[in-house]
Amino acid sequence: MSTSFARRLEAVQPSVTLAMNARAAELRAKGIDVYAFGVGEPDFEPPAFVIEAARKALDGGVSKYTAVTGIPALKQAVCARSAAMRGFSPTPAQVTVTCGAKHALFNLALALYEPGDEVVIPAPYWVSYPEQVKMCGATPIAVPTTEEAGFKMTPEAFAKALSPKTKAVILCTPSNPTGSAYAEAELRALLEVWKKSDAWLIVDEIYADLVYDGFAHVSAAKIASDALDRIVIVDGVSKSYAMTGWRIGWSIAPAPLAKALDTVQGQSTTNATAIAQHAAVAALTGPQDEVAKMRAMFEKRRGVMVEGLRSIPGVRCRMPEGAFYAFADCRSLYGIEYKGKPIANDEDVAFFLLEHAHVAAVPGGAFGAPGYVRFSYATSEERIRGGIDAIRRAVESAKRL
Ligand SMILES: Cc1ncc(COP(=O)(O)O)c(C=O)c1O
Repeated sequence: MSTSFARRLEAVQPSVTLAMNARAAELRAKGIDVYAFGVGEPDFEPPAFVIEAARKALDGGVSKYTAVTGIPALKQAVCARSAAMRGFSPTPAQVTVTCGAKHALFNLALALYEPGDEVVIPAPYWVSYPEQVKMCGATPIAVPTTEEAGFKMTPEAFAKALSPKTKAVILCTPSNPTGSAYAEAELRALLEVWKKSDAWLIVDEIYADLVYDGFAHVSAAKIASDALDRIVIVDGVSKSYAMTGWRIGWSIAPAPLAKALDTVQGQSTTNATAIAQHAAVAALTGPQDEVAKMRAMFEKRRGVMVEGLRSIPGVRCRMPEGAFYAFADCRSLYGIEYKGKPIANDEDVAFFLLEHAHVAAVPGGAFGAPGYVRFSYATSEERIRGGIDAIRRAVESAKRL
């Protein structure tokens, strides 16, 4: 039928957080103060000099198309950042500047995945990875991990998931939603397994600046420097520089793949917004002390959130190495009464928290980890303490069925 939708959408999940966001918006519209632990964006403003750079760009007449893959100054800055943070020095021809890191991942999906392909993704995973794979008619292969193993894929489980159909592997370190990050030795062991395959390796390092307790982020591009013809790094300014709405991300890919990404992007979005590209140059080349300040604040907030969650009877929460999420096992709340019925899954938990504690958080099922709930601590310590107190009150006064 001509008015039907493309079949590729049939397998794709709409974001499950939409219903929760809608309910949170309803509560807010009624004047209720909802604790926003669901959002994946820093509450900080970008550094003032970044905003100033955007203003200067506007005043200076930056209003035209740029090259599809980005302005030379930004591509240079991306290369310099990579050299400094990864010890991996790509050339500007390998860089594709995109409308956010999500767009970089989508470009890669369009350039690489076909029906019949498998893409290996450790679970819990960021929601968009499997959905983008499915949109291209390929099959995501989720590899379960355990909290005991730090939500990290083991080399054994990884080896079992690889097959001749594996087109790519997507790693995210530090991870959304768990905050877990692979230590160098752990990553090295996974890369040894991967090298035996002929799949692409896509590494999402968007949270690499946000690691705590002196954790050392070591990039796969450094460890597997002998296999750079199959490695793609995804990164951006959204998280490190609190620039989510500016929509600037990038991929660093081997040159032939970067050329294919240029073609994909050239027939879809063309360039990322010119003004935001100039702002991103300032972010990457300016003083980095604000990143350090934000990181230090996230580290403090992490402690408040994780300790707070652990103080709620029955709730377990691993101390994450990075990002700004706490991923808590909430199965002990099953059985609590919600709308006359016992809570039976993580979605019920999340809705219970929203209705009775006015805390918005994301159920783990969305990330391939039923039983867990993701709490973002990208909000002030005061708000974190307030939300935790509200959760405790709601749980303590709830009836068990
Ligand atoms: C793991 C991960 N990758 C990519 C993105 C997308 O970033 P951007 O806002 O730059 O598109 C996010 C955003 O939440 C994320 O958590």
